[in-house]
Amino acid sequence: MGYNVAIDGPAGAGKSTIAKLVAKEKGYIYVDTGAMYRGLAIHFLEKAIVAGETDKIVEACKDAEVTIRYEEGAQQVYLNGRNITARLREEAVGNMASKSSVIPEVRAKLLELQRELAKEQDVIMDGRDIGTCVLPDADVKVFLTASVETRAKRRYDELTEKGVACNLEEIAKDIKERDERDSTREIAPLKKAEDAVLVDSSRMTIDEVVRTIVELCR
Ligand code: DC
Repeated sequence: MGYNVAIDGPAGAGKSTIAKLVAKEKGYIYVDTGAMYRGLAIHFLEKAIVAGETDKIVEACKDAEVTIRYEEGAQQVYLNGRNITARLREEAVGNMASKSSVIPEVRAKLLELQRELAKEQDVIMDGRDIGTCVLPDADVKVFLTASVETRAKRRYDELTEKGVACNLEEIAKDIKERDERDSTREIAPLKKAEDAVLVDSSRMTIDEVVRTIVELCR
């Protein structure tokens, strides 16, 4: 059995940045489950499916194979054998991932893959339902959050740095909508596991958050 660290929290809380750094320091494999939902979302978008078309999404799950590989330590996501990692962060992909992840068949498709990855190796896995659903027996559980304002500003800075034109208010609105959808869905909603440690990163530096989590690990 691998040593398992679960990091859950809303969009933009810094989960992936923190999880990658903890993984590096502790020698764990970083598993980004959001990237798997995003990988499936690309499949749906490529089939010109729109978010409300549940039947088509369920059907499309049947011919989607999402696989994860690690190349030079970085997670690469493959969709039916094609590396789609470069497209994962697109806004449309994130929105489709959030909307399609409410569908039970979509979640079931990825659950086994996530558990398999955690079984044999030491992993730090981030997502929305890792501590509550995917790895209920994880050795360490963290619920990482930050205020909507902080998260919107971080996303704004990230996009601006990449030269992408964006609007802070629209990003904040998008984040609020996604939080609402991720936490009110029926299956595996975003929620702090009872035994998870709550970390609010609004006023913490990246290094402070990393130290807090590293200290929780064996
Ligand atoms: O973490 P992220 O922004 O890359 O995730 C994209 C969407 O995928 C998110 O809005 C909800 C969904 N997701 C999920 O339902 N369960 C997870 N464990 C991870 C992501």
